[in-house]
Amino acid sequence: MDVFESKEGFRKALHSARASGGSVGLVPTMGALHAGHLALLAAAGRDCDCVAVTIFVNPTQFGDAADLAGYPRDLDADLGRCRQAGVEVVFAPSVGEMYPMGPTETTVEPGALAQVLEGLARPGHFSGVATIVTKLFALAGRCRAYFGEKDFQQLAIVRRLVADLDLGVDVVGCPTVREPDGLALSSRNSRLSPPERQAAVALWRALCTGRELVAGGERDGTRVEQAMAGVLRAEPLVHPDYAAVADPMSLQPVTAIESEVRLLVAAGIGSARLIDNVGVCPRPRPATAQEPTP
Ligand code: PAJ
Repeated sequence: MDVFESKEGFRKALHSARASGGSVGLVPTMGALHAGHLALLAAAGRDCDCVAVTIFVNPTQFGDAADLAGYPRDLDADLGRCRQAGVEVVFAPSVGEMYPMGPTETTVEPGALAQVLEGLARPGHFSGVATIVTKLFALAGRCRAYFGEKDFQQLAIVRRLVADLDLGVDVVGCPTVREPDGLALSSRNSRLSPPERQAAVALWRALCTGRELVAGGERDGTRVEQAMAGVLRAEPLVHPDYAAVADPMSLQPVTAIESEVRLLVAAGIGSARLIDNVGVCPRPRPATAQEPTP
């Protein structure tokens, strides 16, 4: 496994992997690798000849200095996990290497997709994400890039930026990896105390409640949102931010559920902010009785 701190080393390594006829699978991360990240590495390993992981805690996507300072970092442990997973190339740059002139003057602004849900709660976050992802794609060159559905809005924004800017990257979305009780794996779960950890499963319970309602025939998006919010509110340690029914492409709210929707929740628990989501298709309407033929 080759580990690069420099952009040039990373760029050349992936260029030569392609020059020798191999396909490249790219997995962008901020480190603190857990089984959710490892599932992305495994998917990339199944599809591609050379798997490359980037490990970079990107300061421009954090609004809150304390959140950035407290973000878990353990490069040695991450490199061990990458080695075990059969990764060929790791790019772990410093902030100075990625942003030699300070935060970029040129930024990628994701538009309407970033103005709802997490975008409202975290102003500037998706601009930081879109800009760093564009920089990583520019360095990596032609590849398949693997992102988790856990961050569904981020995945939608990355898909759209690749399409809008013709970046020549195939974006692959991968299912959310969960704890046995349903809690989505997240680097931020390590901040939860044992009682907070127990309370956190309310996010998954809220999503299951919403999913059962929609699958059972409920077509009113507002009623589904209220039911999910009620499950979150019932847990005293959980401070709900949103419980939303959204169109899976535009992420705009859906009031009348006619086709597949995405259910998304976010809540503060202790010092952590957790998000989760699931997709669900409505139960087909019963076929209308045929008019009797004369
Ligand atoms: P990070 O939070 O480290 O996540 C890296 C990738 O792992 C993302 O695509 C995320 O959706 C995925 N992931 C996280 N938890 C997951 C889970 N439980 N199941 C499946 N996939 C999961 O997302 C970022 O980093 C950054 O914003 C980044 C894209 C690297 C840009 O800085």
